[in-house]
Amino acid sequence: MIISSPVAGARILIADDQRDVLEALRLLLKGDGYQIDTADSPAAVLQALERREYDVLLIDLNYARDTTSGQEGLDLLARLRAADESLPVVVMTAWGSVGLAVEAMRRGARDFIEKPWDNDRLLTVLRTQTELGRALRRSTRLEAHTRALSDGGPALIADAPAMQPVLQVVARVGPSNANVLITGEHGTGKTLIAQALHAVSPRASRPMVTINAGGVSEGVFESELFGHVKGAFTDAKQDRVGRFELADGSTLFLDEIANVPPSQQQKLLRVLETGEFERLGSSRTRKADVRLISATNADIHAEVAAGRFRQDLLFRLNTIEIALPPLRGRREDIPRLAKHFLGVHARRYRKTLTGFDPSAMQVLTDYAWPGNIRELDHAVERAVLMAPGPSVRTADLGLRPAADSAGRLEDMSLEEVEAILVKKAMARHGNVSQAAKALGLSRSALYRRLERHKL
Ligand SMILES: Nc1ncnc2c1ncn2[C@@H]1O[C@H](COP(=O)(O)OP(=O)(O)OP(=O)(O)O)[C@@H](O)[C@H]1O
Ligand SMILES: [Mg+2]
Repeated sequence: MIISSPVAGARILIADDQRDVLEALRLLLKGDGYQIDTADSPAAVLQALERREYDVLLIDLNYARDTTSGQEGLDLLARLRAADESLPVVVMTAWGSVGLAVEAMRRGARDFIEKPWDNDRLLTVLRTQTELGRALRRSTRLEAHTRALSDGGPALIADAPAMQPVLQVVARVGPSNANVLITGEHGTGKTLIAQALHAVSPRASRPMVTINAGGVSEGVFESELFGHVKGAFTDAKQDRVGRFELADGSTLFLDEIANVPPSQQQKLLRVLETGEFERLGSSRTRKADVRLISATNADIHAEVAAGRFRQDLLFRLNTIEIALPPLRGRREDIPRLAKHFLGVHARRYRKTLTGFDPSAMQVLTDYAWPGNIRELDHAVERAVLMAPGPSVRTADLGLRPAADSAGRLEDMSLEEVEAILVKKAMARHGNVSQAAKALGLSRSALYRRLERHKL
């Protein structure tokens, strides 16, 4: 029989001291596509782990010599957890010894099976743990990868006075379990700050799990967040672990929180209040210990006022709120950020560039950056590609300030000069109120001029 299973090739180590049990389990699990090794003592388990990697460990807690207390099994469990936190351990206990199973869960077992076992339940538990373990390891590897790329931790450049309160909050609140809401325009560094909060927390040994509420349908969001069981909907061909469960013991980063649909806001509120949730299509209530960091570029308080976002949910999310300033509110950081991105892209495209011409740097510092740090990153990337070297000139930036395209002042009409000044003020300040202030105009007077010059 050919079996194609999502866990095909996964390797499980089974530990039991009864030969017939080992054989029965081996047959059952082979049939589901697993590769099986067996161990008949705790010592054999530890030896096997030194030889190869396993996706899941299935261990019996009630050894023949020790049927009542299960102490030997619990000791083994403790040693396994100490050696590798990410390795899923499922325990088997004799029927009726739920107390022992609970103790095992408290000591880090991921799930338990009572003997005599139910085949379907056993297979479901093992599939779930295999998938979960693999997902966890994938994201751990990814994190290690990005860390290695940015040699010495991800760059967080924040010397500007406007960033000092942000850094203080990260240092004070990061290590706690408090839920944090990060607000700010697109590209201001919300994701980076979420990573920084996680990195300074005791949960940092596990990868942060991310879910984005933007642009997904309600059903997809729910099953991504809470998982589903096979048959919950037409395409649910197998059980699936949700991000909330995946983030157990770690941090969940819920991006674009303002886009969470109303029905899901209700469910999110419940899980934040109780830590309890169900996978889609399942009635089994699960628990997970999750620290939530959320982010939005919307004005969430306005969303609440407009009745689109639940106030009680906002109260749960923003125990601490971090408002990231736009880049035009922290221009002091532009030179360092620009040099940082220059280094990154020059390495990436194997170009030798010494830095920016003073006039090019002036253009960068004056520009309004509506797309914030991400836009600066892209502008520098483009410049790196375009610049013949040895340094980046204004012309390489493609950000020509308004005055650049102008001819000599004395050859221009008053109208033309006005258009240039208005354009420049808008580029520098990014919004009408501040541009109007800088020009000494009222907002409505500036609006009229913007219209007249078709800006
Ligand atoms: N303080 C910083 N120092 C260095 N790089 C930064 C800093 N802040 C942001 N960046 C970089 O700028 C880019 C955009 O940042 P990030 O993705 O965190 O923004 P965001 O606010 O989450 O954007 P969006 O709203 O689009 O999700 C990323 O490449 C990030 O690494
Ligand atoms: Mg982001």
